[in-house]
This record gives sequence, structure tokens and C-alpha cells, in this order.
Amino acid sequence: MTERSLSWQAVCPVAELVPGTFIEFRLKEKAVEPEGMPLTGFVFLERGTPKAYLNLCPHLGVELNWMPGRFMDADNLFIQCATHGALFKPGTGECIAGPCQGDALTALDVRRQGDQIEVRLQR
Ligand code: FES
Repeated sequence: MTERSLSWQAVCPVAELVPGTFIEFRLKEKAVEPEGMPLTGFVFLERGTPKAYLNLCPHLGVELNWMPGRFMDADNLFIQCATHGALFKPGTGECIAGPCQGDALTALDVRRQGDQIEVRLQR
């Protein structure tokens, strides 16, 4: 496995991260696979706490959303993959229905730093 540098990256001002908002970003770190593809992710508030995942469905490795900033299912309970409809728990990323049931979204480290939200790949 290629060594990755894991540095924090500011993705949005704290003030923009309001309940119900999903903010997308492109990670500066490169993925190990597929070959150097840039990674995207999203951050949102889960019960008031910032939570971030890679925007990558564990089923086929595609981005979860078709519409910018739209990640939740119609009932606003689960993160939903727009391709085949897999449902993920917002708090843990666990897939509870769909073709990748039992798998999970890849969580990112997330923190407040001054007036910015920052993320980084987890070790
Ligand atoms: S690509 Fe996400 S459920 Fe199939």
C-alpha cells in the first residue's frame, strides 16, 4: 500500500454547516486506487455534530449523489446511493439495505478549527 500523507484540509466555514446541509468537497489527498483519482467527500451535521464521509458507494465505487448536495432518502432518514438505492446510517455509515448491505461508507476525521471545518483521511 502506498504511504499517504494525512493532513487536515479546510472544507467550509463552520457557519455554512447548518442542519440539513450537505457540503461537498474534493480531497487534496489522492486515492490509492483507482490510480490517483481525486477523492470527493461530503460533510454534514449529524445530531449537531459534524460528520464526513468519502463520496464513494461501497457497491461500485461511484459517487453517491446525482444532485449536488442531495444525499438523503425521501424520508430524510438515511443517506441513499442514487445508483442502486443502498441506504446508509448517517451516524455510522453502515449500509442497512441494498446491494452492499453490511458494508459501510468510509468515514473521514472531521474537526472544527477556528471558523473552519476540516477533514482528513483516517489512518
Ligand atoms: S452503486 Fe451504490 S448501490 Fe449500487
